[in-house]
Amino acid sequence: MGHHMAQDQRFRAPRGTYDVLPPESWQWLALMRTALDTFARAGYRPIETPMFEHTEVFERGVGATSEVVTKQMYTFTDRGGRSLTLRPELTAGVVRAVVEHDLGRGSLPVKLAYAGPMFRQERPQKGRYRQFWQVGIEALGSDEPDVDAEIVEVGDRFLRSCGLEPTLVLNSIGHPDESCRLGYNKVLGEFLDENRDALAPEDRARIATNPLRTFDSKEARTIEVMTRAPLISEFICDACRSHFEAVKHSLSVLDVAFTIDPRLVRGLDYYTRTAFEFVSEGLGSQNAVGGGGRYDGLSEQLGGPPLPAIGFSLGVDRILLARGESAEKFAVPGVSVYVVALGATARSRALSLATELRRAGIGADLDLAGRGMKGQMKDAARSGARWAAIVGEKELAAGEVTLRDLESGEQERVPLTGVVGKVQA
Ligand code: HAM
Repeated sequence: MGHHMAQDQRFRAPRGTYDVLPPESWQWLALMRTALDTFARAGYRPIETPMFEHTEVFERGVGATSEVVTKQMYTFTDRGGRSLTLRPELTAGVVRAVVEHDLGRGSLPVKLAYAGPMFRQERPQKGRYRQFWQVGIEALGSDEPDVDAEIVEVGDRFLRSCGLEPTLVLNSIGHPDESCRLGYNKVLGEFLDENRDALAPEDRARIATNPLRTFDSKEARTIEVMTRAPLISEFICDACRSHFEAVKHSLSVLDVAFTIDPRLVRGLDYYTRTAFEFVSEGLGSQNAVGGGGRYDGLSEQLGGPPLPAIGFSLGVDRILLARGESAEKFAVPGVSVYVVALGATARSRALSLATELRRAGIGADLDLAGRGMKGQMKDAARSGARWAAIVGEKELAAGEVTLRDLESGEQERVPLTGVVGKVQA
């Protein structure tokens, strides 16, 4: 009876979260490791920041009109009465750290990379979770268009190395000034006011606070209206326009294909000038595998010096979903030798042999559950090991093991003391 109760009350991971279990866990981890490798080879060095920050970092950084801040943050008060928030993204935290430690004083741009979990209380669906993982890079301290091109190229190349064929969507959203985006916002606001009744009701409230965001609406009525909306590309200032031209030119020189979408606005308030997204097939509505852009004013918004910057984050969960089953697996470490022991005496030597192999840097595993010969051979095959080191009474008496090549099926007797050398060769 009590047993059944316990069964019914088993815990589940919280809604929108999931456990990453073997063997997929290796692919998941290898993807992040490969990303950091790729980023390091372009000069981006890893940074770790806390999983939570003062809530204000995100309110001021990500922005008070973004959905991430207004609807999705995991905010709590700690025992000291401080308002803290689990990081919904890392750009604001990275800038906070760069400002706090004055990293902008050194040689510029400061180039940083990261991989880790983020938290957003969104409605869960395929490709959208409440805890998800991102890899990303940020370059702070230069507004050179070539930084934009470098960043975009690194992201594009990494996604392709994962087996994806993303579409790179590009736009410039100018800078917040009357001569540029703020001027456009007015024109767009007027257009939205004129078409107020045609918009979906939930999109009307935002007109005054952040008209640009209306381009992100998923409502069919609103999308129809927005096909007729004035476009930011016609309003950005000359400096932003020529910056964007230079970015596009550099990308063409690098042979990075892109499409321009003047309706791409991105969901976070800190963006200026270049904004981009990597879109992948086969993911349904959550088809953005990554996104990024410039955020030239963020450092100052967080109390730091002027540090024009750009970066991107890629969704690890979505990359793995988009890769599917067919994609080539990442190479991961495993065991090379599986020790199979028959009989009590041999069993008592099996752990010693496995340990000797491990001490020599060779991956080794063994049966620790008392399985028979057949079961152990099955485990050996499942382990992915290249060799089975079989120790029976006969072998033991002769001070030998039978080393079977699990790929070819060939086997030979080798002295116990020679296993390490044989496997290393
Ligand atoms: P973001 O567009 O909010 O940008 O997120 C980047 C990527 O993270 C998305 O394209 C998606 O692949 C993934 N992602 C976002 N939310 C979820 C979710 N709930 N579940 C699964 N995956 C998700 C940023 O976060 C910015 N920090 C990017 C950036 C860096 N901009 C400048 N530097």
